[in-house]
Amino acid sequence: MSCQISVLVIGAGNRGQNYASYALHYPARMKVIGVADPRAFARKALQEAHKIDKDNVFDDWRPAAEREKFADAVIIATPDRLHKAPAVAFAQKGYHILLEKPMAVTPEDCKEIVRASKASNIILAVCHVLRYYPVALKIKEVLDSKLIGDICHIQHLEPVGFWHFAHSFVRGNWRNEGESSFSLLAKSCHDVDLINFWMGGKRCLKISSFGNLSHFTKEHKPEGAASRCLDCSIEQTCPYSARKIYLKLGEEGYFRWPVSVVCSNGQSDIESLTKALKDGPYGRCVYDCDNDVVSNQVVNMEFEGGATAAFTMIAFTEKLGVRKTTIYGTKGELNCEGSGPVEVFDFLQQKKIIFSPETAPCVPESLGAHNGADYYLIESFVSAVAENNPSLIQTGAEETLNSHLLVFEAERSRREKRVVFLET
Ligand SMILES: NC(=O)c1ccc[n+]([C@@H]2O[C@H](COP(=O)([O-])OP(=O)(O)OC[C@H]3O[C@@H](n4cnc5c(N)ncnc54)[C@H](O)[C@@H]3O)[C@@H](O)[C@H]2O)c1
Repeated sequence: MSCQISVLVIGAGNRGQNYASYALHYPARMKVIGVADPRAFARKALQEAHKIDKDNVFDDWRPAAEREKFADAVIIATPDRLHKAPAVAFAQKGYHILLEKPMAVTPEDCKEIVRASKASNIILAVCHVLRYYPVALKIKEVLDSKLIGDICHIQHLEPVGFWHFAHSFVRGNWRNEGESSFSLLAKSCHDVDLINFWMGGKRCLKISSFGNLSHFTKEHKPEGAASRCLDCSIEQTCPYSARKIYLKLGEEGYFRWPVSVVCSNGQSDIESLTKALKDGPYGRCVYDCDNDVVSNQVVNMEFEGGATAAFTMIAFTEKLGVRKTTIYGTKGELNCEGSGPVEVFDFLQQKKIIFSPETAPCVPESLGAHNGADYYLIESFVSAVAENNPSLIQTGAEETLNSHLLVFEAERSRREKRVVFLET
């Protein structure tokens, strides 16, 4: 029998609001009783939506962490570089934690979070949302059934989407490593984690990576282009024009993500959007930003027993986040794109078998990101806390640390231009 859990939202931005919305759809399961965010409009929006007592509204995570524990759990959805400190502080206070990925931006900080959560014996779930997604779980079930025999190779592609990359990784919050984290950690830690998960406990022994920032650099700025799209006379010829990506949507009355991120005052109207594009970061020419994170990266991995994996992250795609996976086994080949189905070609029967993963009949729109994986994640976390059952969490501290360490080693390989041999 599950009961209602109480949560504090630390960081009431895009992700914090999405997870908090679970409480509005399922009030018997979760209640948001506190919020911390330095942006007044963001914390006010959450306060009003969840009728939060004013004594539990904070402009920073620290005063909330200093109080006697007053909720069952915290949702930490602060910017990448602000994960470790609140995670350790709230773990020490005995809160269960839903922690946005990446866990932290250095291996040492990730390890410190693991130590703190183990010492306090709390439930910690990292938001590797795809690990709760029925399609990824169906792939794992098929692999475990040995229908395709032993895995020889996993080929996995993450298409970021051309405008999405420009939005988040050229103009937006994850454009500059010094302010957030490197691309592989910020964008593809999900994918390295999935590969590790599908390999089923086999350790990765060697890893190598290449990657570069292509195209979104000053050298590629077309002649005659202005430094802001609204002032640019050749904007019509540019696929990355902010006018096309945001203003057109606003003019059609669409103000959800990514448009919702653009207006730093939280207002959803054409005037605010136009002003934000005139003055703010999202109106900048993509060839004139302070971005440095890579736009295309490959990672090769060798696992115990000789199986290999090849991962590609690429900005320049039509599709956004529709991941493509092929897994080559000794008895069959598995293919899956996006929300499935999962298809297996059985070598012995020489026929195709189709698996359609069971998905929830209705996922609330606010939890629909990542094909609805956000919903499955928060649902599992709430159940784990309500039933005090950490086994409902697929992405606990130790497990997440392992796959994060692979991401750090892959990045080390890219930077140092060498194969990294992992400790056995
Ligand atoms: N799991 C996923 O697939 C996924 C997807 C997107 C983003 N993320 C991660 O989620 C996190 C949040 O991303 P977002 O898109 O919501 O960003 P966001 O900028 O919309 O939200 C972050 C919020 O944290 C607040 N904040 C900053 N300093 C704070 C402090 N001292 N105390 C409390 N709050 C503070 C900001 O004001 C902001 O409202 C990031 O780490 C990001 O990488 C994960």
